[in-house]
Amino acid sequence: MIKRKFALAFVFFVCIVTSFSQNEKTNTPTQGRECLLMDFNWRFALGNATDYTKDFTAETSYFTYFAKTGYGYGAAAAQFEDRTWRVVDLPHDWAVELPFSASASHSHGYHTIGWKYPENSIGWYRKKFTVPASDLGRKISIRFDGIQRNSKVWINGFYVGNEVSGYASSVYDITDYLNYGGENTVAVRVDASVEEGWYYEGAGIYRHVWLNKTDRLHVAQYGTFVTTELDGENAELTVRTDVENQYDKPTAFTIEQTLIDADNRQVISKKLENLTLNGNLQKTYYQKIKVDKPTLWSLENPYLYKLKTCILVEGKIIDTYLTNIGIRTIRFDPDSGFFLNGNSVKIKGTNNHQDHAGVGTAIPDALQEFRVKKLKEMGDNAIRTSHNPATPELLDVCDRLGMLVLEENRLMGIDKVHFDLLERFMVRDRNHPSIILWSLGNEEWAIESNEKGARITKTMQEFAQKIDSSRAFTVAVSGGWDNGSGKIAQVMGYNYIVQGNIDEHHKKFPWQCGIGTEESNTIGTRGVYIDDIKNGHMAATNRMPENAGTESGWKFYDERPFLSGLFFWTGFDYRGEANPLSWPAVNSEFGIVDLCGFPKDIFYYLKSWWGTKPVIHIMPHWNWKGSEGKNIKVTVYSNAEEVELILNKKSLGKKPMPKNGHLDWNVIYYPGSLVAKGFVKGKPTVSEQVETTDVPAKVVLTADRNQLKADGEDVAVVTVQVNDLKDRLVPTADNGIEFTLKGPGIIIGVGNGDPASHEPEKYVETSDRMIISDLKYQLCDTFTGNNKTAENYDDSLWSKAFIKGYDEFEAGKNIILRGTFNLDDFTDKTIISLYAKSLVDNQSVYVNGILLGKGIKRYDPNQIFIPDNKSLHKGKNSVVFEGKPFVKKTEYEEINTDPGTIKVYNSAPQWKRKTFNGLAQIIVKTLKNKGVITLTASSTGLTTAVLKINSNVTIPRLTTEDIKK
Ligand code: GAL
Repeated sequence: MIKRKFALAFVFFVCIVTSFSQNEKTNTPTQGRECLLMDFNWRFALGNATDYTKDFTAETSYFTYFAKTGYGYGAAAAQFEDRTWRVVDLPHDWAVELPFSASASHSHGYHTIGWKYPENSIGWYRKKFTVPASDLGRKISIRFDGIQRNSKVWINGFYVGNEVSGYASSVYDITDYLNYGGENTVAVRVDASVEEGWYYEGAGIYRHVWLNKTDRLHVAQYGTFVTTELDGENAELTVRTDVENQYDKPTAFTIEQTLIDADNRQVISKKLENLTLNGNLQKTYYQKIKVDKPTLWSLENPYLYKLKTCILVEGKIIDTYLTNIGIRTIRFDPDSGFFLNGNSVKIKGTNNHQDHAGVGTAIPDALQEFRVKKLKEMGDNAIRTSHNPATPELLDVCDRLGMLVLEENRLMGIDKVHFDLLERFMVRDRNHPSIILWSLGNEEWAIESNEKGARITKTMQEFAQKIDSSRAFTVAVSGGWDNGSGKIAQVMGYNYIVQGNIDEHHKKFPWQCGIGTEESNTIGTRGVYIDDIKNGHMAATNRMPENAGTESGWKFYDERPFLSGLFFWTGFDYRGEANPLSWPAVNSEFGIVDLCGFPKDIFYYLKSWWGTKPVIHIMPHWNWKGSEGKNIKVTVYSNAEEVELILNKKSLGKKPMPKNGHLDWNVIYYPGSLVAKGFVKGKPTVSEQVETTDVPAKVVLTADRNQLKADGEDVAVVTVQVNDLKDRLVPTADNGIEFTLKGPGIIIGVGNGDPASHEPEKYVETSDRMIISDLKYQLCDTFTGNNKTAENYDDSLWSKAFIKGYDEFEAGKNIILRGTFNLDDFTDKTIISLYAKSLVDNQSVYVNGILLGKGIKRYDPNQIFIPDNKSLHKGKNSVVFEGKPFVKKTEYEEINTDPGTIKVYNSAPQWKRKTFNGLAQIIVKTLKNKGVITLTASSTGLTTAVLKINSNVTIPRLTTEDIKK
């Protein structure tokens, strides 16, 4: 009994509110603080995991950046030539651009990345940015919200850190490394050779990057934490503000908190005055703020307040920090489940990884919203971010749209490394009102069912409680429930009811709350009704034991009030884990919707029992040519009381719909129309009809939104549909469609939800580099009258150049240097450029005997030459430099010996995609200029579709490009 009481004390979590620096999310400049988006105009190239020379030699210098600070070398150096690299905008995932192979990783969807593919697994990103002279004296940091994975960062050649996890946000203080009033370079090396998860993770800088500037006295990063207590209709906020004084002397200041409502009206303002903080110290300040009759954050009305925290010195605001606030209470109860604002809410959730068709893990903010809305459409009220901390913008969307979140830690452990990752994401996210529960880990098979696991879970839970005691903790356990983590977690996370006996466990641990962290779905391929395993497709019927699957899972949880609810595995399909299949299937088929978000039939089962609106849905389609006269099982999902099925105007009978159930009919197939009618209290309320269609006749395009923001970030998710002449979706159509786009937008990805498709999802430009090798030289008195610059001049007897650095050449002589480069196949449209560097004074440059430049000054950075493609050929080509040898200006000058690089650029090929069972998806992103985006979709033999999307004037978020010297 004592045990039970103690337990109840910690399972009652009355808490609240969110705080998160929102400055960067808005367009409103905030006094004293600047948060600049750094997503645009990065240079990107693949390096190499096993060959240092192909990895831009970053770690090969005599003194490495580990030896001498600021000694970033090769691609880590500020002055590195990166103009031959591809230009990309973030978010970016290069794994999704790679081809598939049967020998690649099953977990990563057979994309050719990982330790077997060293040439594809290192990505380098570089970006230049300006910091004005007036910033000197401020504190400046760079924040990466997520790089997949094992990233190293250099600023102006200074190594600033390494983040191994692909799911952590990392902040680097770069104040002292910057060039004020000048150009700065950030270089990032990303190593995706080793997998962190067992599901597709992508590769690259796939979340936003920010440059943050503050006064030296400021609110720390993620430095507000607000919780709320409710007293009747009124609330009291407890605001903790971490203030950092990075001046070297004591500073006096005031903290002013202002609560602002959703209509931008000030609700209340409160000051904490006469504060002094010694130099180089950080301290937490506490304030209580009473709010009369607040509007609570709920699923139906996810009302957000904003807390504006200002730091004032001598009456002047020197820092402003914005925090989104949602006032609500949450409570888990071991006997009666979960409560939001005192009301019982059954958690109807889905697990989701973080990749989407076309774009991989590089999900634009608007696509996060599309995905959450799709899940909400079927009545899903909760998301588990399996198995990692989420992208901040997903949490913002959940706050805004009213979606509960179970946010999960990546890896369990109790040492510094594990605690650091756990603490960082909890501090980052602990104020989101949408987060109702933290998960410390998932299916840690080595520990979940033993004493070691119990110890680890206890230590972690105690540590995490110090970071946030306003929420409970769970661990998702797949076996040995009564031992290990299962006897410690405040909320027991059951992974699959077939793995144990939940009722028995509950009896044994009556103090413990419970939730289904994973439950099986009806696995299968959208629109497929007959298994075709060899082609990677499975009929979407229950292939689990009788007591598992979507329907039995939901019934089980719905019938037990002590269980707070469940999360199905999964909401969206994801790449990798094509279980129980493997190649040629490359994506999972666990989803209730496919990788694009197109619903599978089971979506309507859940919509019937989770949603609030009348639903009726017939499965399968009615195109069964060749099956005339044969029996077909027809299933109807609906929440009507009774359903009648009618084939070609003939009733096949009316049946009562069991609660949380479905109805089946055996129907002899004849083409025509099949109608399902739903009745409530004997009256028809809802109906659906499927018809046998004609052959494909037209392409139809529809966008989720036709009005976008011209901010270079917004996206429209466009559905491509193949219809017959009567405008009915042809449910088996697999037509190849080509897409063209005109106007201020770009296509960033295509998909169709086919889990076994090996078609590209991205059509991107390529930018390859060819090295100039075999450099030889000869000294001569005069250039005139020789043919030593000719393409095929025989230089076999010349001396090799620069064997030990730049030689000291005989004074007064001229010098000719000859080198070669190889070209693969290229077309008329390929742009081949020579990015030359100075090897000699007063330099002339020739390619295949043709003079491209002369009289070039020492170290001119603009030696870019584009020879006529007709003068080039596949295989060996020659490049010649002539002029006067350089003479060292000082004894220690290291004269350049690098001739430069050849860039081979091919623009992106034609975008295309097949439809899969009638559907495909294109994701269109805006540019920063307004106008009409026209998308055309055409296919041989079908009527072309044209879609217009308006991209409207808006104020884009401030970026580093907006800042001048
Ligand atoms: C679970 C696991 C998930 C996923 C799923 C596939 O056990 O937690 O991440 O792997 O199995 O069935």
